[in-house]
Amino acid sequence: MKIYLDTANLQEIETALKWGVLDGVTTNPTLIAREGRDPDIHFKDILKLVYPRPVSLEVVSEDAEGMIKEARELSNLSDNVVVKIPMTPDGIKAVTILSNEGIKTNVTLIFTPMQALLAAKAGATYVSPFMGRLDDRGWDGVKLVEEIVDIFWNYDFDTEIIAASTRSVRHVKEVALLGVDIVTMPFKVLKQMFNHPLTDEGIERFKSDWQALQQKLGK
Ligand code: E4P
Repeated sequence: MKIYLDTANLQEIETALKWGVLDGVTTNPTLIAREGRDPDIHFKDILKLVYPRPVSLEVVSEDAEGMIKEARELSNLSDNVVVKIPMTPDGIKAVTILSNEGIKTNVTLIFTPMQALLAAKAGATYVSPFMGRLDDRGWDGVKLVEEIVDIFWNYDFDTEIIAASTRSVRHVKEVALLGVDIVTMPFKVLKQMFNHPLTDEGIERFKSDWQALQQKLGK
């Protein structure tokens, strides 16, 4: 399973890269706005830092023509750009044209299996079902991912599934058990994946036993 960070923060990306566990990055307009920098400069910094791993950058136009224009400009920035397109009729129209041009796309804001099916048929490289936002409203985000995994398996689609809007380590575990291709997560969740109190306790015990031996040997 590939791990992506859902962030536009350069320090978080750098830390995860040094851990050696990062396979890509997803952003959205909210995450870019949070960094407060000129998007044109910030996009380039992220793309360079993460290269050659994929980085999803989202269009803001709502009509197909505008999305296609933005997508072509974004994809010219670097060959690791994936263009994030919202799940609308115009978005799907844009994905059909862009996939024929060889531009990689990530169809975002997926909340039903049928939306994922349409995106895959249009040739999307990735689809992003949002788990957390569904859970927040009382639906079942993991179930959505499960159904998309099953449908893509039935028809052997090449489109990869990025489980998104990840809120917890439990989300990561549950979709990993389903065999999802990718999970994109906030840095906070990635950090939590390291943790267990018994790990900390074990380290403490090994340390004190080792120190006791050193003392006994007079070292
Ligand atoms: C997907 O790629 C989105 O950027 C993201 O996962 C949205 O998550 P949120 O619901 O935490 O904003």
